[in-house]
Amino acid sequence: MSSFLIVAIDGGAASGKSSTSRALSERFNFLHVDTGSYYRALTAELLRRVLRTDQIEAVKSALPSITLGTRVDGRAARMEIGGRVVPEAEIRGPEVTAAVSHFAAIPELRAALLAYQRAQADVARAHNFCGMVMEGRDIGSVIFPNADLRFFLHADPVARAKRRELEGRADAVAERDRLDASRKTAPLVLASGAIDIDSTFLTLEQVVEKLSGLIAAKLS
Ligand code: CDP
Ligand code: CDP
Repeated sequence: MSSFLIVAIDGGAASGKSSTSRALSERFNFLHVDTGSYYRALTAELLRRVLRTDQIEAVKSALPSITLGTRVDGRAARMEIGGRVVPEAEIRGPEVTAAVSHFAAIPELRAALLAYQRAQADVARAHNFCGMVMEGRDIGSVIFPNADLRFFLHADPVARAKRRELEGRADAVAERDRLDASRKTAPLVLASGAIDIDSTFLTLEQVVEKLSGLIAAKLS
């Protein structure tokens, strides 16, 4: 097997990033890093401190007092805040989902996560993973522009809203995409050179097969 591989996957809300990344992490023994869960965990912490999305100065002042760590749970990396992993139920809940894109637009908050996200590759190496699959909005454009493979998942907004509905989750996917794509710092964008995949009419298995073929080719 060749050296450690970094795979970046970006795309809009409910485009299939997490399910695809999870499947790839299992197939190739990669660490799975869901950076959306990091923005969600930070959002949960800011809300716990009773900060609102319009209190930008107060958020900036709070950031240095938030201590981040990483726990490896199976093949998934989880963010620790003050030594505690914020429970999934909380980070996927409606309050965090409604606030996350607003906090994620604050440049200082993104800057606070930059080195932390890049250091996840060291975490993966330290745990002897064969590589890392990192998903988000700006992984192929800002965090790892030199990743071995960079993918961008597309899917029709109606299909994506339907996917969330089937999961029973309240989520304004189109509104979150609008906020994520229009922010000034690290917007949701198809990075130049990234492989663009439209999954509107593909099953999850078909998407995973497609990406797996390209990863296997890189590894061989
Ligand atoms: O991580 P992201 O928000 O991009 O999407 P996800 O949570 O992986 O996928 C959202 C939902 O769409 C899940 O229930 C997937 O099973 C489903 N999905 C699908 O129906 N078809 C695909 N090609 C990909 C995902
Ligand atoms: O699962 P879903 O695609 O719905 O969202 P997520 O990946 O959990 O990300 C939640 C929010 O975090 C996004 O709507 C973005 O506002 C923000 N985010 C970001 O700004 N940059 C990233 N690399 C990942 C997420």
